[in-house]
Amino acid sequence: MKRILILGGSGFIGNAIYRELNSFFDTYGTYYSAKKSFEGNKQFYRYDVEEDDIVEILEKIKPDLIISALRGNFQAQIMAHQHLVAHIVAKPCKLFFISSANVFDAYSKYPSYENDKTLSESIYGRLKIKIENMLLRMPKSKMAILRVPMVFGNSSPRIKEIRNNLIQKVPLEVFPNLIINITNDDRLTQQIHYLINRNRTGIYHLGSGDLIHHEDFIKEIVGRMGNFHPVYKRVFTTNEDRYLAVLPKANPLPKNLQFNCQDIIDHHIFTE
Ligand SMILES: NC(=O)c1ccc[n+]([C@@H]2O[C@H](COP(=O)([O-])OP(=O)(O)OC[C@H]3O[C@@H](n4cnc5c(N)ncnc54)[C@H](OP(=O)(O)O)[C@@H]3O)[C@@H](O)[C@H]2O)c1
Repeated sequence: MKRILILGGSGFIGNAIYRELNSFFDTYGTYYSAKKSFEGNKQFYRYDVEEDDIVEILEKIKPDLIISALRGNFQAQIMAHQHLVAHIVAKPCKLFFISSANVFDAYSKYPSYENDKTLSESIYGRLKIKIENMLLRMPKSKMAILRVPMVFGNSSPRIKEIRNNLIQKVPLEVFPNLIINITNDDRLTQQIHYLINRNRTGIYHLGSGDLIHHEDFIKEIVGRMGNFHPVYKRVFTTNEDRYLAVLPKANPLPKNLQFNCQDIIDHHIFTE
């Protein structure tokens, strides 16, 4: 049985991955501030990316696969991934890195595909590129770069924020000229489970196969949350349409794991 360690196992995405894999693999996770929920759980280790040496945890768990779903100080994340890469190259171990559509945020005119050159104008996108480049220098058989668009889902921080704003009558921010693709926690974790089962490595774009305007998507979701009539704060960052989308082309997943934006919208059924 494979031993899997999820860095950021207490987070929204990391914990969704943990719950998906837990009954099939010997699965471990790290937490940082979420002590109450995890300190009594022997599958979970406390890890502070700024203070702790990840290698100590790796030597205890000896994972076959590490999934990195961390947030935290950017410089510390870079250091931690340097240590991870050095360990993985020397051991029978692989690394899956949760990256982001933001690695392409300097290109606004088209959606992006797996083999496109990355370029970012944001410090977040540049952090992701830096870590991706470390992985790209490893043997391909040892790593997967999983580029993910905005992740929704009933329990996602993004949906929770919308729900709270509706209840508190806070205006909702929408980006009318931003065109995105999307995913949710269920789709994402099923896709990652498949990649693990099939021993797949390389670069994957894990989002819907089609695109939607951010504003239309948010309005559809709000429509499903009940009889709300929010004020929308329409934020224009550019005059023209801007794409922030990672579409699959070179490394598509099988049909049953593909989905479109409507599937993600339909998944949001709220019972308040
Ligand atoms: N959510 C999205 O829409 C989205 C889209 C694309 C890519 N991503 C990427 O997916 C990854 C996970 O994102 P998420 O949305 O699941 O974030 P999240 O819910 O905030 O989870 C972040 C995880 O990192 C841990 N963490 C935070 N500070 C830390 C520190 N100083 N030391 C060690 N661990 C620390 C958190 O632990 P505690 O909770 O215990 O403090 C948690 O487990 C990130 O790399 C993000 O860039 C997310």
